Amino acid sequence: MGRSAVVIELIEDAARPLFINLAGSVIREIERGRLKPGDRLPGTRALAGALGVHRNTVDAAYQELVLQGWLTAEASRGTFVARDLPDLGTQNWGVRPAAARLASPLSQARAAPAPMQFSDGAPDARLMPGLELARAFRRSMTAAELKSLPGYGDPRGAPSLRTALARYLSTERGLTVGADDILITRGSQMALFLAAAVLNPGDAIAVEDPGYPLAWKAFRAAGARVVGAPVDAQGLDVEQLEALLARDPTIRAVYVTPHHQFPTTVTLGAGRRLRLLELARRHGLILIEDDYDHEYRFEGRPVLPLAARALSQGRDQDRIIHIGSVSKLLSPVVRIGYATGAPDLIQAMTARREAIDRQGDLPLERALARLIDDGDLGRHARKARKIYEQRRDLLCAEIAARLGDAVAFDKPAGGLALWLRVNPDIDAAAWAAEAERSGLILTHGGQLQLQPGHHANAFRIGFASLDETELARAVTRLKAAQPR
Ligand SMILES: Cc1ncc(COP(=O)(O)O)c(C=O)c1O
Repeated sequence: MGRSAVVIELIEDAARPLFINLAGSVIREIERGRLKPGDRLPGTRALAGALGVHRNTVDAAYQELVLQGWLTAEASRGTFVARDLPDLGTQNWGVRPAAARLASPLSQARAAPAPMQFSDGAPDARLMPGLELARAFRRSMTAAELKSLPGYGDPRGAPSLRTALARYLSTERGLTVGADDILITRGSQMALFLAAAVLNPGDAIAVEDPGYPLAWKAFRAAGARVVGAPVDAQGLDVEQLEALLARDPTIRAVYVTPHHQFPTTVTLGAGRRLRLLELARRHGLILIEDDYDHEYRFEGRPVLPLAARALSQGRDQDRIIHIGSVSKLLSPVVRIGYATGAPDLIQAMTARREAIDRQGDLPLERALARLIDDGDLGRHARKARKIYEQRRDLLCAEIAARLGDAVAFDKPAGGLALWLRVNPDIDAAAWAAEAERSGLILTHGGQLQLQPGHHANAFRIGFASLDETELARAVTRLKAAQPR
């Protein structure tokens, strides 16, 4: 009898997904020596039939084992035990009790897949120009540089970074602001908190729902109430917002992510932008514009922020706070964000900032200014944009091919994530929970909605932080965890 006829017993462990159990069973047979390097595995259809499981389960188990290096897949020939494995011999056959075999450290280590994560839109920190930043930081720490620093300086942040950002915001985002109009913060999270802190206690901020829960957290911590305004397929529903404003006069600000709505990724169209600006003027509202991943636009014409339109029409007329961050451009480990907008608002935010943090990290801010001035940041952005576009395309293709019956999505024109609308007969939260049990963490819409039922039976999955092999692997895990 040929070796392809090796019978594989499926030992089920209810706490784990079926494909992981099957992968563990195959590993056991390799460890016991029943499957030897170079042996052919049964075809997926045959094995699925023999075990009474779905073919996708066998497929997912084989893919996992290929990724872990136990098996190799050879086009049109089949799947084989990897030839580079040591022959683990037959010393274990039949003598170890099942419990001991299940507890085999090798099986455990290899069968329990390392956890992986579909982020909610993080960049790939491995691509960050870390050496360039480190070199620039080192320069900021030389004795001569340190001597030139005032010790305590301007609470708005290092002048060199504010100057570099003013130039950058003017070229890239059409914001005609000067260095004095910019407040540097420790990530945009601090800017969100400070923006809410300029309101009176008890004032409300209307936020997109579904939206960005960390913004709601910052607003609440600053003493504001948070009220949800619905989001539809075109982004923030400005008509519904208007109705909300009529009902709730305590709403004094609106938080919006117009470039790529978080989490649905859509870009707010020109009509809605104009209506939103007009509404804000009429009600004297502050618009808090979070432009968190502006740099990543893959298709279509560039879209300038709300602030570009507002600030060009006279600074004091529009009450806008435009917020940005380098978290998507470099990595969230570099805690630098910024806010710009109406001067009185920036002044009020600066005063608050000084009360809790006299100034930012001057050497880091100066290092980042150098990265911008030397062109390193621009070069990195261009390179990252190309790579992320390829990753977006690959993930879209994988999902369409392998999950097309369970989810629907529109390819996003920009940003670092997809919004997958899950078929109504499948519970996205349950799916995410099952995925987590098999080692894939992802964000489902229920975690991003303020009020239940706001179109959030969905996933937000980032494509930038995983490379192409990792993306394919993550889709395999997602597919295997799909509730039936
Ligand atoms: C909507 C939104 N705003 C802002 C940020 C950036 O936050 P920070 O600058 O505090 O890292 C993120 C990061 O995930 C985000 O998703």
